[in-house]
Parts: sequence; C-alpha cells; structure tokens
Amino acid sequence: MDFKNSNISDCKIITLPKIHNTLGNITAIENLNDVPFNVQRIYYLYDVPSNEERGGHAHYELEQFIIAVSGSFDIILKDGVTEKAVTLNRPNNALHVVPGLWREIANFSGGSICLVLASEKYDENDYIRDYNKYLDLKHDS
Ligand code: TYD
Repeated sequence: MDFKNSNISDCKIITLPKIHNTLGNITAIENLNDVPFNVQRIYYLYDVPSNEERGGHAHYELEQFIIAVSGSFDIILKDGVTEKAVTLNRPNNALHVVPGLWREIANFSGGSICLVLASEKYDENDYIRDYNKYLDLKHDS
C-alpha cells in the first residue's frame, strides 16, 4: 500500500479471535497470522483527558492496528478526498490503518486504553504533522 494511493476504504475493521467462557474472554494476536504486517512496536495511550484529541498526523510508511482494549474512542480518518469517523469500543476489534492516512483520535471515554500495534519502530521522520503539507503530498502528481 503506497502513501499516495491509499484511501479510507483500505482501512478496515478486523474482528480478532475471542476465546469465551464463563470466566471471561481472551483475545490473542499472533504476529503475521492475525496482523497482516510484522509488528515491530507496541504502545498504548492511557489517562487521556476526555476532552483531548490525539493523533493529528499521517505516516509515510507506518501501518497500525488500533484497538480499544478498554473503553471507547473515535478515530477520524482522512485521505485528502473524504473522511470517516470510526468508533472503537470492543477489545476484539482492530482498525487497520494503512500508510498515507491522516488520523485523529477523539472522544476518549474515562479509563480508556488505546493499544497500537505498529509495523515500524518509532521514527519521527515517518510523520507528517502539518495537514496542508499532507494534502500537498497526497495530491501532488
Ligand atoms: P505522537 O505519536 O505524536 O502521539 P499521538 O499521535 O498519540 O498524539 O507521540 C507523542 C510523543 O511521544 C512524541 O514526542 C513522540 C513520542 N513517542 C515516542 O517516543 N515513541 C513512540 O512509539 C510514540 C508513539 C511516541
């Protein structure tokens, strides 16, 4: 999936396996089986004040699985043409965000935890943090 040609329809909700019994649920995620990329980094957002927004950037290369392991929040995706809000509120749903998508994360419920599986280690050079620059890069032919 390349930066310029990716769009919102490439970002799908993936239903992860759930092992259910009377003692509760387990969701296990196996690298390259349940995730379509090689996971090189895991991070999580927590203690986010409920009126704050995070994200506000795009990536050249990075692919991510974003999971609400606790609580709920909205992911706003933009591809330079259209935009879409996705509510994540189940620990066995993952949003696959491909490279080249602008994303914002908002409406965190109290105590929510946003788990992210990422295809690359942290690299600030992979970020586009200016929305106008993002639009220029996306539309530049
Ligand atoms: P950022 O990705 O901008 O956060 P968000 O998109 O959730 O608003 O990262 C915020 C800060 O944390 C930034 O200074 C970079 C740092 N950071 C790391 O050092 N390593 C990481 O893996 C991540 C995700 C962020």
